[in-house]
Amino acid sequence: MSIEIESLSKQFTKKGKEINALDNISLKIKEGSFVGLLGPNGAGKTTLTKILTTLLLPSHGEAYIDGISIKEDKKIRQIVGAVFGETGGRSLYYRLSVLDNLMFYSTLSGLSKPVAKKRIHSLLNYFDLDEKKNALVMKLSTGMKAKVLLIRSLVPFPKVLLLDEPTLGFDAESSEKAKDLLNEFNREFGTTILLTSHNFPEIDELTSRLILIDSGKIVQDCAPLVFKQKVIQEYIHLIFSLPPLPTDGFKMSQLPTEIFKKLVRDSAGAEVTSLKEKDGLNFVYEVTIQPIDYPLNETISRITVLILRASGEIYKIAPYMPSLKESFLAFLAMNKTNTVTEPEAREEIFNFPIQEEDV
Ligand SMILES: Nc1ncnc2c1ncn2[C@@H]1O[C@H](COP(=O)(O)OP(=O)(O)O)[C@@H](O)[C@H]1O
Ligand SMILES: [Mg+2]
Repeated sequence: MSIEIESLSKQFTKKGKEINALDNISLKIKEGSFVGLLGPNGAGKTTLTKILTTLLLPSHGEAYIDGISIKEDKKIRQIVGAVFGETGGRSLYYRLSVLDNLMFYSTLSGLSKPVAKKRIHSLLNYFDLDEKKNALVMKLSTGMKAKVLLIRSLVPFPKVLLLDEPTLGFDAESSEKAKDLLNEFNREFGTTILLTSHNFPEIDELTSRLILIDSGKIVQDCAPLVFKQKVIQEYIHLIFSLPPLPTDGFKMSQLPTEIFKKLVRDSAGAEVTSLKEKDGLNFVYEVTIQPIDYPLNETISRITVLILRASGEIYKIAPYMPSLKESFLAFLAMNKTNTVTEPEAREEIFNFPIQEEDV
């Protein structure tokens, strides 16, 4: 099912001041796509997800899921599965058991009891929650509650999943499991998924489209790979050794950095961006190099020749692709230097969002 968002805005009034949590957002998400939503705290991710799940009303604009307006809240809630990792724990019944909570919500979604029971048991088993199925929700750890929330959203096999930090509090193993499961839902059932997460590998590995929002506006919309290439240039990771230089005893292991940088510049047209001694005793160095004059592969071969000519030895030479997290942070830093943030706006970003209502 597709998601269509048309000129969506949301204003909040906080302490007498207007905040544009969403500022005229339009986008289309094709049926069956897996889309990542990224942005710093306060960017508007949760607001957008809440509007799409009918928990908040937009100030302006429209949105449709499978052609159904989000004004038709009952219909939308039937087809959408949602998780709000930050605040969702409060939406479980604390004095009911895990199983009772899950059974209650699945019957709300119209699922027959035997089918619900079967799915709940296999999902509890998948997330190692078997032993906790009769425990009261109030006795669960944060991570366990988060798992219950994710399970709750999956039980009806919804056609659309809107997940706002669903793996917050998950341990490493459960995170991997969640990743596999979401991938399977998307590929096997064609579930359309919009995922907000600060677990960057999750977004990087699962999604084929990344939407970055900042201050309520879409600032990037492309494939994660394209985003990474846009923000940080690919560079080369090199580990090598050179024969010891005939200098005085104390400085034996030191590579004449400036000379090396000049050599790289002259013979490979590239810039050394970092250089450190990896193993001083054996004269091993670790370097990152940014290609400038030549394409990556040619730069690699030129550097290889340079080191071999100097009777050095190469342990590793490979293109280094920055991670999504590195690219995201670099992008935010770039955006900050481009726009002078007012002190008030900055305060807003670091304030923990106050939620009007529980989910
Ligand atoms: N219920 C609310 N009342 C007032 N301001 C809110 C409310 N919910 C969110 N905001 C504000 O809207 C902006 C976007 O918040 P949110 O959507 O929660 O961001 P994100 O999920 O990207 O961290 C923030 O400035 C936040 O303080
Ligand atoms: Mg949020």
